[in-house]
Amino acid sequence: MAGSGNAHKVVVIGLGKRGRHHAAAFRGNPRFELAGIATRDAGTLAKAAAELGNPRTSTDPAALCREVKPDVFCFCTPPQVRLDLIRMGIASGAQLIAYEKPIALSMNDAIEIRGLLRTAGVKSVISHQHRYGQHYRKAHEIIESGALGRVDTVYAHSAGWMTHLITHLVDLIRWYNGNAEAEWVMAQAAGRGKLADNHPSPDFIAGIVHFANGVRGTIECGAGAPDVPEVDYWWRKNVVGARGPNGFAEALTGGGWRAVTPHGAQAGEGCMNYDLDMPPYVDQIADWLDDEGRVHPCNGESAHKGFEIVMGMIRSVVSRGQVALPLGPGEPEIEALARVLPNTPVLVSFEENRKQYLSNS
Ligand SMILES: NC(=O)c1ccc[n+]([C@@H]2O[C@H](COP(=O)([O-])OP(=O)(O)OC[C@H]3O[C@@H](n4cnc5c(N)ncnc54)[C@H](O)[C@@H]3O)[C@@H](O)[C@H]2O)c1
Repeated sequence: MAGSGNAHKVVVIGLGKRGRHHAAAFRGNPRFELAGIATRDAGTLAKAAAELGNPRTSTDPAALCREVKPDVFCFCTPPQVRLDLIRMGIASGAQLIAYEKPIALSMNDAIEIRGLLRTAGVKSVISHQHRYGQHYRKAHEIIESGALGRVDTVYAHSAGWMTHLITHLVDLIRWYNGNAEAEWVMAQAAGRGKLADNHPSPDFIAGIVHFANGVRGTIECGAGAPDVPEVDYWWRKNVVGARGPNGFAEALTGGGWRAVTPHGAQAGEGCMNYDLDMPPYVDQIADWLDDEGRVHPCNGESAHKGFEIVMGMIRSVVSRGQVALPLGPGEPEIEALARVLPNTPVLVSFEENRKQYLSNS
């Protein structure tokens, strides 16, 4: 498409925080034309249109798609709103659907989404855009260079709760482990406070992942995860890294990167930043549309594998013991979790987490 001089036509549905980020990033890239935007509230729509160069607008996304005939159908809605918009995106005739993490709230929905997309031959890309941060890329570069020796462990933790952050963490540890297949997971969880959140989650979940290449993954999300005192902003108190016999390399979401290798201790800058991370993320969408071989690193099939790790962790909490991957359909995981999690308040690992997790209990 871009090779013929035509920009890819994009519609963006949902104009909250992330919808506006996406619309601005597509608009800022000459390989795309922001052809239309839709959201339910007319006031929000008018305000967004003024900020975005006045593309075509509608409060009816299906009608907008009939007018625009998009190449890219992008939607940025709360985690509960996925399947209907995937169906709408496929019906729109778009070649690619770009949407927000998490891909779903249950394995059943994720499997249905993957099936619909495969049957229709529609590509999908999920917004795990953290990986474009220079600090995440630097840690990856050190890991890939072999400076750590044979990587034995990949690890990630966040103070923020599961449904907000865990699929980002899983995306990053899978990347740091060369996207090796995960064979089984085992996990435990505590605290019911965030089950009622619009990103429903246990207050704390911690688990291990066994990858087929022998590498061990560890993941912790929420109230019991350790503090990252080097980072002030609570939502960015996250660490993702890898360890081997010769050292480690890790990125702090809000605090740069650091590594110890046989070359010594090193550290550098970097902070999660939508303005910097979104442009390369959308540019690689155009790469994939223009060249089948340039598959987007945040493609839906990869996100599905990451999501299996997360849903497998919840199934482990529910059923106890190890859970083998890949996963088939089953009891919706968040509902199953709500059935089994005891009513015991979570134990926090640092003071700020008390405010975030225990203020209303
Ligand atoms: N990738 C990231 O770094 C990142 C960061 C923050 C949030 N997110 C994810 O982005 C998604 C959206 O988050 P947000 O912060 O933009 O939320 P938001 O509340 O700011 O915006 C949500 C939008 O969806 C619309 N919407 C709600 N229900 C709808 C429905 N049934 N049909 C159509 N539109 C509907 C709302 O009107 C609103 O425009 C979530 O899944 C969240 O987890 C990702």
